[in-house]
Amino acid sequence: MRRPRRLRQNPAIRSLAQETHVRTDDLIAPLFVREGSGPPTPIESMPGVLRHGLDDLLRECEGLLRLGVRGVALFPVTPSELKDPVGQEALNAECLVLRTVRAVKQRLPELVLFTDIALDPYTSHGHDGVLTADGRDVDNDRTVDILARMGVLHARAGADFVAPSDMMDGRVRAIRAALDEAGCQSTGILAYSAKFASAYYGPFREAVGSARAVGTRPLDKRTYQLNPGNPREAIADALLDESEGADALMVKPAGPYLDIIAALRRETRLPVAAYQVSGEYAQIHAAARLGWLDLESTRDESLLAIKRAGADWILTYFARPVAESLSRT
Ligand code: PBG
Repeated sequence: MRRPRRLRQNPAIRSLAQETHVRTDDLIAPLFVREGSGPPTPIESMPGVLRHGLDDLLRECEGLLRLGVRGVALFPVTPSELKDPVGQEALNAECLVLRTVRAVKQRLPELVLFTDIALDPYTSHGHDGVLTADGRDVDNDRTVDILARMGVLHARAGADFVAPSDMMDGRVRAIRAALDEAGCQSTGILAYSAKFASAYYGPFREAVGSARAVGTRPLDKRTYQLNPGNPREAIADALLDESEGADALMVKPAGPYLDIIAALRRETRLPVAAYQVSGEYAQIHAAARLGWLDLESTRDESLLAIKRAGADWILTYFARPVAESLSRT
């Protein structure tokens, strides 16, 4: 008789037999930055996640580095009076995210900075691009021109990786060409390659205020984000980003799309990143708050599953508490 339980009989043997580990090095912390100073402001649907003023953000970055988290992804909260239909603020050389990137790079040059390239923090309608003349769709090519210029601004400010999260066609090629032309050859592109039109982004849109403009209905981004039912299309789109010059490919959301992470891991030799999004985080917290799930063990299992599926990098709002718990063991 085979006895598989021999490998499970005590903690030491189980630890030797463990095949997958989440390490602090795998984690990238998404951070929200807002104008002004003073104490950080909470986000109701994301317990423990804060909108930081710049000084406070610098402290948070320092704390993360000390814990061994080497990467952060920055998301600006744009004041609504700076939003307009074409997202002009995105190209303002003094905009919040650029000031933040410069300040963080100066203080913590070794921290790897990822910045989001998309127009949704800046548009009054909340879409990731500028709209066509009839206002019924996002104008792909006009949007891509803006994204390429945005990428150069971010690279010059000190971003290590620009991360186009908009899902417009051809944007990786355009951003790569603009970066090279501007002399930013070392700036990488982390492409949100398989980004699905997901209901799990709700709390994020509350956090950055990109849901509000269109009222109570969730924003419909299905003309650019992927259909959740389409694994083949997702892999094809990701490989297109690779051929256009992406340095790493992302799947988003993560937990509900483990099949996509696993398939992409087999199809590419680039690093595969996975973004455990706001709704995945909120779900675990909400159930824990009701006493229905244990927060820490559910959190750890959710990340282990993402790693096991094949993700090399994990963007997660749990980065700090997980790094803290790993540093204790
Ligand atoms: C937008 C963007 C979104 C997220 C990251 N960048 C939301 C969206 O596409 O509407 C979501 C992240 C999260 O839910 O945690 N470019």
